Amino acid sequence: MERREHWSSRIGFILAAAGSAVGLGNIWKFPYITGENGGGAFVVVYLLAIIFVGLPVMLAEIVVGRKTQRNPVGAYMSLHRGQFWKLAGYMGVLAGFLILSFYSVVGGWTLGYIFKSVATGFSFASTIKDSSSEFSNFTASPYYSILCHAVFMFLAIAIVYKGIRKGIERWSKILMPTIFVIILVLVFKGLSLKGSMEGVRYYLSPDFSKLSSRSVLIALGHAFFSLSLGMGAMITYGSYLSKNENLFKSSLMVVIIDTVIALLAGLAIFPAVFAMGFPPDAGPGLVFNILPAVFAKMTFGSFWGLLFFSLVAIAALTSAVSLLEVVTAYFVDELKMKRTLAVVIFGTFIFLLGIPSALSFGVWKHVSIAGKSFFDFVDNLASNYFLPLGGFFISVFIGWVWGVKPAVDEIRHGSANFADVHLIALLAGLKDDPSHNSDIHVVTLASLWGIFLRFISPVAVFIAFLFTIGAIRL
Ligand code: PFF
Repeated sequence: MERREHWSSRIGFILAAAGSAVGLGNIWKFPYITGENGGGAFVVVYLLAIIFVGLPVMLAEIVVGRKTQRNPVGAYMSLHRGQFWKLAGYMGVLAGFLILSFYSVVGGWTLGYIFKSVATGFSFASTIKDSSSEFSNFTASPYYSILCHAVFMFLAIAIVYKGIRKGIERWSKILMPTIFVIILVLVFKGLSLKGSMEGVRYYLSPDFSKLSSRSVLIALGHAFFSLSLGMGAMITYGSYLSKNENLFKSSLMVVIIDTVIALLAGLAIFPAVFAMGFPPDAGPGLVFNILPAVFAKMTFGSFWGLLFFSLVAIAALTSAVSLLEVVTAYFVDELKMKRTLAVVIFGTFIFLLGIPSALSFGVWKHVSIAGKSFFDFVDNLASNYFLPLGGFFISVFIGWVWGVKPAVDEIRHGSANFADVHLIALLAGLKDDPSHNSDIHVVTLASLWGIFLRFISPVAVFIAFLFTIGAIRL
């Protein structure tokens, strides 16, 4: 068997994992759900969800990955013999298939819009009505939507084909800084427009009357999707880590990058929307229906549009790569397939699986499964059922089955003092004080993590799950 590849550096891993996390969730969804749920007030709740649930589960997945050096199915199998846990791994791999199939359709649209910005300068979008009808026609066209989906999948396949170092890591090191630069440029551009401050106010000033218990669960669900948790993407990326990496610091970095990019995305969008006098509350339609009209009104709009849609396409691509890697790793590790063969076969399969989703905005609009279009059905099944359940399983698995103790021992490779950071002592400024008496009751970071994983994360994720599937109504 080939030796397992490893990331060549810590920054390589961090950028690849951040590449997985930063995606359509950050740029397309976060800004509009924040706007709809009370702006700054929602941001606070989102940050709490990230700290209390996102970060602990992120660390949990990465630990399991590095410990076992396997894909999600292999990882569960090597830590526990029970058949049940293997199923949790399979659910992750299946989620990879499903999410990528429709994610790539949307990724394809962003490629189409890059092309449109250059070819037309958004001349079709002089009003929102025109812009929206152009979008409907574009997504309804079987040729364009399948073609764009194919090109997007091809790019993801080409990167994963090259392997961990030469493919995923190399491209993450190029694309992630690019995302950062583009988003900063767009934020500065947006803020420099006359009337932009209204947009900042809409986006960030806290309105607690719009914040409901519903918003809390939305924040929780979104934190999960945004951090790529619950399907073993981070188990898989963690499995290419060597023993001398500091897992806690790396997880923290990934979480910070993902959150900062999400916040910046709103600042790139709302100020410009307000400055051009368009409504901010189009929900999911904000990016494809409203923004083209915003660019059409701007000087050099075609350039700004090109920049914006390239940003979305790049963010989507690095996430797609991680989804494909989960699937690939499973076939390489467990069925001993060659990576190149597995990527091509299953990448093509996912492309085919995505075709009905691509068609569900046009010719297959009326085909429905369980009352939903094919696209919505697959999205709902994977994002609302598989991911939260996957997150629930991994927390319970570490907290109660495999054990917090062996997990902390694993973290200590590469970060020897993880269990020894006396958090209270640290907060009190006592940490370096030699007279500090370690007999006093101190809470270590490790025990906090254990408590979060055993009690807080599984309960919070499960409640959010019940809410999303409609079992609890608020
Ligand atoms: N985190 C990605 C986003 O915010 O768009 C979506 C995603 C990627 C979810 C990879 C799950 C995953 F494994």
